[in-house]
Amino acid sequence: MNGVPVEGKVVLVTGANRGIGKALAIKALECGAKKVYATARDESKLAEVKAIDSARVVTLTLDVTNSDQVKAAAAAATDVDIVINNAGMGTGAQLLADDVVEKSKLEMDANFYGPMRMVVAFAPILKANGGGAIANVLSVAGLVNFPFAPTYSTSKAAGHSLTQGQRTVLAGQNTLVCGIYPGPIDTDMTAGMTVEKGSTEELANYVFDGIANGTEEIYTDAMAIQLAQGLKADAKAVEKSIAAQFQNVRD
Ligand SMILES: NC(=O)c1ccc[n+]([C@@H]2O[C@H](COP(=O)([O-])OP(=O)(O)OC[C@H]3O[C@@H](n4cnc5c(N)ncnc54)[C@H](OP(=O)(O)O)[C@@H]3O)[C@@H](O)[C@H]2O)c1
Repeated sequence: MNGVPVEGKVVLVTGANRGIGKALAIKALECGAKKVYATARDESKLAEVKAIDSARVVTLTLDVTNSDQVKAAAAAATDVDIVINNAGMGTGAQLLADDVVEKSKLEMDANFYGPMRMVVAFAPILKANGGGAIANVLSVAGLVNFPFAPTYSTSKAAGHSLTQGQRTVLAGQNTLVCGIYPGPIDTDMTAGMTVEKGSTEELANYVFDGIANGTEEIYTDAMAIQLAQGLKADAKAVEKSIAAQFQNVRD
């Protein structure tokens, strides 16, 4: 599939009010996007991104667990070329706890059903606009289970499989479907984690370079690149190593 350089394109980012999503929205502007739909559950939290370039930034309210809001966003953003499904969350659920099913459902709703809803709504728009690209922000935790966030890992593994399926079903309409696989990145999500973290700026560079080059699986930092290489060489060894290393990484 051909790559989609961001320059001159219309980009939509979910969860653009902070963390990785905010960095992706800003990087899209820096790289010459024609327009950026910066979306968030609370639109008022997008003021900082809007202020960067109020002519090119359009803000929208969008909770990806709300089907009506997803449909409304698609009705408002019919000129989109690149959809970045970044919004995601972790509950800290533990596998043997009484509330694990309830918490895991919340993670699945945002991290798995969210990108599913978004692609149902936006695939026809991308098709009408010539194909474009979808980038699902997944995680290396979707490739191997991280023991401090086991159900978050399963939601990202489901997202990984979903991304493969979306790639297949959208190939005929010329839509590039990229999976984004970060290791630990310095955002609110990893606050209190005592591990080395990549930066959101470096991640954003990897993401837009990858989309421009037609890279289907984009690893966004040194840890992610190393983990992906390890999985190719010996997946069982990586599983054991991550299980041993990532038991107690919170302060
Ligand atoms: N940080 C990492 O180490 C890391 C590693 C791998 C993958 N990721 C993934 O990267 C993505 C961004 O994470 P982050 O590190 O930037 O975390 P973050 O700082 O906690 O930001 C999460 C973003 O997602 C939004 N969000 C959560 N649930 C949502 C929903 N139902 N609808 C719309 N927006 C929602 C949040 O909005 P509110 O402000 O309204 O809560 C916020 O904008 C997530 O998919 C995460 O799983 C992160």
